[in-house]
Amino acid sequence: MPNSLVLSFNKNIAVVEESSDRVAVQLPRVAGNLPQYTLNIEPISPGLLAAIKILETDGATEEYLSDIVLQTDGFSELPKFDYYLQQLIDMGTICHTVCDQELPLATRIPTYPSKPFQLADVAIDQSYVLSRFAYSHKDKDQLVLESPLSPAKVILADWKAAAIIAELAKPQTVREISTKIPGISEETIQQFFSLLLSTEMLKEDSKIQDEEKDALVSWEFHDLLFHARSRKGRQRNPVGKTFRFLDKVEQPPMVKSKMSDDIIELYKPDIEKLKEEDYSFTQVLENRQSIRTYNDQPITDKHLGEFLYRSARNKRFVSKDYGECTHRPYANGGGRYELEIYLVVNTCENLASGIYHYCPENHQLGKISGRNSKVEALLEDAYFATDKFSMPQVLFIFAARFQRIAWVYQSIAYSLILKDVGCLQQTMYLVATAMNLAPCAVGVGNSDLFTAAVGTNYYAETSVGEFILGSKPTA
Ligand SMILES: Cc1cc2nc3c(=O)[nH]c(=O)nc-3n(C[C@H](O)[C@H](O)[C@H](O)COP(=O)(O)O)c2cc1C
Repeated sequence: MPNSLVLSFNKNIAVVEESSDRVAVQLPRVAGNLPQYTLNIEPISPGLLAAIKILETDGATEEYLSDIVLQTDGFSELPKFDYYLQQLIDMGTICHTVCDQELPLATRIPTYPSKPFQLADVAIDQSYVLSRFAYSHKDKDQLVLESPLSPAKVILADWKAAAIIAELAKPQTVREISTKIPGISEETIQQFFSLLLSTEMLKEDSKIQDEEKDALVSWEFHDLLFHARSRKGRQRNPVGKTFRFLDKVEQPPMVKSKMSDDIIELYKPDIEKLKEEDYSFTQVLENRQSIRTYNDQPITDKHLGEFLYRSARNKRFVSKDYGECTHRPYANGGGRYELEIYLVVNTCENLASGIYHYCPENHQLGKISGRNSKVEALLEDAYFATDKFSMPQVLFIFAARFQRIAWVYQSIAYSLILKDVGCLQQTMYLVATAMNLAPCAVGVGNSDLFTAAVGTNYYAETSVGEFILGSKPTA
C-alpha cells in the first residue's frame, strides 16, 4: 500500500528561526498540562529548512519532502531528514492527511505524544469495525472523530469520510465500502482505514472482542471519556484554573439569592459548648455507619438546624480568584462552594412536608413548595435507592451551580463537583453520628425530576448528590 499521506505541522506548533543555522520547533505549554517540548534542529541545511517551511504551510507527502532535501542538499542529508521527521512525529507535532482526488478526506491530529505513529497495513478483503469508544462530534465548523483510547483525533473533512464512518458501525471490508460509497477509490479507502487503525478508532473485526476483555470490559463509554478528559495524561487541553470566562461571563454570586419569601429561622447550636461536651473524634469515626431505618418519633426542626449548622453553614467570606469564596465545615474545591442544599421533608417535627432551600449565610430555610407529587416522587426514588428499608424522613439533595466551578476550572469542573459531593456527604455522616441520628448517602437521584420540583434550569443548577437523614431507632 503506497503511503501518500500529506504531512503538515499541527496548527499549535511554533517554528522559530533562532539563527541562520538553527530552527526550534516548539509544542507550546498549555495551562496546567504538558510541559513545553522543543526540538532544536541544528545545524539546519537549506533543504531541511525548505521541508520545515512546507510542513508549516499546506504540507506534502514524505516522498515529496525527501525529494526536496535530496535535490537541495544531496543524498548525504537524507538520514538527517528521516531522523528529524521521526522526532517531530513522536513529539506529536505532525498531522497526517488522507486525500481524495487532491482534497483532504480526513486528517489525523495528535492530541498527546505517545508511542511512535506507524501506519498499519490494511487488507482489502479483511473486515474492520469501529471501536465502541469512538465518537464524532462538531467542533467549531468541523466534524471530529475522537476516542478516549486514542492519542489523536481525526477531522472528517469530507462527507465521504463521515459516510464511511457511519458504515463502519458494523464490520466492513474496503471492497464493500467502495461498492457503497461512489466516487472514492479502494486505495483511498484503504489509506483511511489504515489511518483509523493506527489511531485506535478502528479494529480488525476478529480483534474487536479485545475491547470486551480484561480491564477494558468494565468501562462504559461515557465513564472512560469522562475519566480521560478530566485527568492529565492522554490529552493536551488546558487543565485547572484557567478562568476562561473572565471578562466574558459574570460569575454567579457566592451565595445564591433567596428562593422564597417563606423563611424559617433555624436553631443554632452552641459550638463552644459542643467542643467541650461532644463525643471524641475517634468515637464518631468508629461509630459512623449507614442507617436506613428510623425511630417512630421523627427527627425535629431543631435537629435539622443543628445538623446544617455543624455541617454546611457559612463560617466566613474570603476574597479569592476574582471574587468571593467562603469557608464552611466541609472542604470544597477552590472554596467555590457551588453546592446548594435542598431538603425534601417527609416527616419532621415542627416542619411541614415539602421542599426547602438552605441558605448557608443566614442559616435559614426558604420554603419552595409544600408536599406535592414531585416531592413524593423524589422521596420514593430515595426509598428505592436504599433498598426500600424505610421512607426517608428527610432527603437532602445537593444541586451544583455549575458556573461557580466552570468559571475558574477547565477540564476538571464536573469531576471536582462530584468530589465536593463526597466531602459534604462524609461531613454529614460524621455530624449525624455525633448527633445520634440515622444517616445514609444515596448513590443516584433524578436530576430532571429535581429541576421540575424546584424550578431551576438543568444546565445552570441541578442535582448531583443525595443524602438521607432521620431519627435513630433505639434498637
Ligand atoms: C457515594 C455513596 C453512595 C451510596 N449510595 C447508597 C445507596 O444508593 N443506597 C444505600 O442504601 N446506601 C448507599 N451508600 C451507603 C453505603 O452502602 C455504605 O456506606 C457502605 O455499605 C458502608 O457501610 P457503612 O456506611 O455503614 O459503613 C452510599 C455510600 C456512598 C459513600
